[in-house]
Amino acid sequence: MRGVILAGGMGTRLRPLTNVTNKHLLPVYDKPMIMHPLNTLLKAGITDILIVTGKGNAGDFMKLLGSGHELGCRLTYRLQDEEGGIAQALSLAEHFVGNHKFVVVLGDNILADDVSEAIRSFETSDEGAVVFLKEVPDANRFGVAEIKGDRLVGIEEKPAKPKSNLAVIGLYLYSPSVFKVIKTLKPSARGEYEITDVNNHYIKKGEMGYRILKGAWADAGTFESLYRASTIARQSKKN
Ligand code: G1P
Repeated sequence: MRGVILAGGMGTRLRPLTNVTNKHLLPVYDKPMIMHPLNTLLKAGITDILIVTGKGNAGDFMKLLGSGHELGCRLTYRLQDEEGGIAQALSLAEHFVGNHKFVVVLGDNILADDVSEAIRSFETSDEGAVVFLKEVPDANRFGVAEIKGDRLVGIEEKPAKPKSNLAVIGLYLYSPSVFKVIKTLKPSARGEYEITDVNNHYIKKGEMGYRILKGAWADAGTFESLYRASTIARQSKKN
């Protein structure tokens, strides 16, 4: 299977830290942020990886990670011209992915869990897509899952009144049909092509699977969560 890391965006919530660099190059404990989701993929045995980023710091990503040779993987880089949301960034992976099922991770997501088994089970399943859910105290900051019985019936993006405390984290498993789905999307109220709209499409078709994450997780998009991400990375290193 192939992997895609989405590392674009302006990082506005982290200004002034992001005034002179890309959010995904900021330190999270002992490494630049992007190296954590990259390690999540490497631990799962995924070695063919696409990094999508904006023009601003593309050269810095290459300086940091190079061809991937030293990390034991093969890296491909793709530039995102516009900031059009996660689904728009993902559409740039179509060529790279070809006919394979694949993993997408947002470059600011720090996970303590080893997700190898979840990824392997998707490879042989007939699920069209899989999302990972994590219990959180502040669900209104995320995509939030609505569960009935043990069925995932919908996801709401940053709802004022979350229907559960299960956040949809930035790790997704897709089949190549996702690119057709993205082409049908309309921009949301915040002007972005939302990954939540993609996922709701699979839910409606009855093709969405989900897995609950047991270990710690943070998306490092705010000062507090960046701080927490560092503590998670530090703890995982000790274990
Ligand atoms: C994005 C997704 C959201 C998800 C989150 C996880 O939010 O839109 O559904 O819960 O990533 O990191 P954003 O970071 O763009 O606000």
